[in-house]
Amino acid sequence: MALIKKEVVDKIIQQADITEVVGDFVSLKRKGQNLWACCPFHHEKSPSFSVAPNKGIYKCFGCGKAGNSVQFIMDIEGSSYVEALKYLARKYSIDLEEDQSPAAMQAQNERDSLYILSDFAKQYFVNALHKNDEGQSIGMPYFKQRGLSAATIQKFELGYSLDSWDDFTKAALEKGYQLKYLEETGLTIVKQEEGKQYDRFRGRVMFPIQNVSGRTIGFGARTLKSNDKKSPKYVNSPESRIYHKSDVLYGMYQAKQAIRQEDECYLVEGYLDVLSLHQGGIENVVASSGTSLTENQIKLIGRYTKNITVLYDGDPAGIKASLRGIDLILEGGLNVNVVLFPDGDDPDSYIRKVGDTAFKAYLKDHSRDFISFKSELFAQEAKDNPVKKAEAIREMVVSIAKIPDAIKRSVFLKQCSIQFGIDEQVLISEYNKIALTEQRASRPAPSPAPASYAPGSFEEMAAEAEAAAAAEAAMYEEEETQSTGDSDMLRRREREVIRFILNYADKEVEEGLTTSQFMLGELEDIEFKTPIYKRLFDLCRLKLEQGFLPTASEFMQHEDKEIRTEVVDLLSEKYELSKGWATHEIIVPHESDLVTYGSEREVLRLKWRNVQLMIKDHMESLQHLTDAAELDKTLRTIKALKDFEKQIADLLGIVVSR
Ligand code: CTP
Ligand code: MN
Repeated sequence: MALIKKEVVDKIIQQADITEVVGDFVSLKRKGQNLWACCPFHHEKSPSFSVAPNKGIYKCFGCGKAGNSVQFIMDIEGSSYVEALKYLARKYSIDLEEDQSPAAMQAQNERDSLYILSDFAKQYFVNALHKNDEGQSIGMPYFKQRGLSAATIQKFELGYSLDSWDDFTKAALEKGYQLKYLEETGLTIVKQEEGKQYDRFRGRVMFPIQNVSGRTIGFGARTLKSNDKKSPKYVNSPESRIYHKSDVLYGMYQAKQAIRQEDECYLVEGYLDVLSLHQGGIENVVASSGTSLTENQIKLIGRYTKNITVLYDGDPAGIKASLRGIDLILEGGLNVNVVLFPDGDDPDSYIRKVGDTAFKAYLKDHSRDFISFKSELFAQEAKDNPVKKAEAIREMVVSIAKIPDAIKRSVFLKQCSIQFGIDEQVLISEYNKIALTEQRASRPAPSPAPASYAPGSFEEMAAEAEAAAAAEAAMYEEEETQSTGDSDMLRRREREVIRFILNYADKEVEEGLTTSQFMLGELEDIEFKTPIYKRLFDLCRLKLEQGFLPTASEFMQHEDKEIRTEVVDLLSEKYELSKGWATHEIIVPHESDLVTYGSEREVLRLKWRNVQLMIKDHMESLQHLTDAAELDKTLRTIKALKDFEKQIADLLGIVVSR
């Protein structure tokens, strides 16, 4: 990671004007001293998102997101701290003076050259479409015939490449662009032997491919001929230092804002699917562009939402693609729904056939979660055939086993048991078998997260613990029912977990297993919601992965002041358990003696809080549901979650009120 000097960081923070920075993403209205808008981080109808120019911060009173300019960019772009600083530095033309070594500078310059050239090419193709006779008489009519409006053509900067051997290459060379860059971006094909060079894209409509920040990195080019067997339908840019196909999704730059707001991303296959849906008012849509979906593409979507709906053709190829996609998305920890279109239609042809309104209705009516989708798919064959049925169930459980989050897994196992009318226990043991074989296959060493804690040390503490349980339960009840908001309570739980890890990173909960390994392993699936603790948690994980213990001292020198301050803060506090115990006049062993007990407990408490929030969310969503099937599904989910909540509560030794 490139190091940005502290003075530069300060300068960036000082110069970044919060109203300008936020204003690039949302339209702000002044009311008194502050400016207001509908929050870009959650769905709302009346504005509760505020910007205070004099303090240089934003805050949403609805969802609690808050911070300075850097934090805003991190939140809205899903970027890292350093990426956010770079973004702001670019915006305010501040020189980062990062790595000044000649090699690094040259690499950066070369990448910049590729970007600049790609941008030139994009502009060249746009001009050819709009200003050139051939573009006007051949390219433009094609777009029109495909139903694309002028606004869409402009928004996606579509273009046209002239039907000539080297019109573009000549123009680029004339402008001073170097042949080696023309060759690397693939815009020009160089035949050494023949001493010839010619344009890759000729007589095609051009779809520029942009990265998330909107820079052009490559092109897709479609032939205008409807079925010409000789030339391929699409010609695409090759991989280059700026274009890595497997990391890119077409349309992400134009879609990301809508994806975040809708908290949902539609995934389609083709450029034209993206364009048609966008034009029809569905802007949260991206395409994998013909290649099969990759892990990095899913991660990219995960920066903006955890919910993906795949929209594929209903033909066998489409179904196969969706099945592959589903497992990969589940593995990435995201939620997946599926919508299939009638055989022979893709999203583009379907929306043009039925119109925007009917299309939206179709999405709503035909969206299936993956359990329903798979069970419907297999239901036909499985109906009267027990062998097929067993296979179908196994299929389902294999998918469920991909889900990294234990809570979600248990919910889906339950749903599956209901859908198939199979005893849940049977599914669980099937699941265990699969999980075990997968674990054996993929991990040489056993997982660092055991299901239960060390019995020996726990028993030593058991007497005190039991005596304290009642006292703590009382304290706990009090804490949890105070009028503090959900996010405050969650924040507190997350804080305790981090504090515990940092303070006792090196202590062992059992032989050969440190507190940090144990806690990080157990909480692998939990999404920390408080930004600072999320960052600390990620930093801890990184340290562990690099083979270090994430002790507090590791972070005392961190480049980020917020991290340093927080870590110092966390170090200067005692374990809160002991407070409760002390006030109830129970003899308390030193906290560090209770590491095993405490770490197990903090893990459970955070999980408990998370399940409760999930339940609350589902309960709230019940109010808006009118569809009986949806209602039923949500109720079942809530039931499953409540069961899980009870399990955790049992382990914690507190009573859950029904
Ligand atoms: N694709 C490709 N090369 C091909 C065929 C397809 O790169 N020879 C990619 C393109 O990104 C394309 C996507 O796969 O957008 C989906 O392919 P397809 O459905 O065949 O194309 P559409 O974009 O739907 O084009 P059209 O509607 O014009 O047939
Ligand atoms: Mn199509």
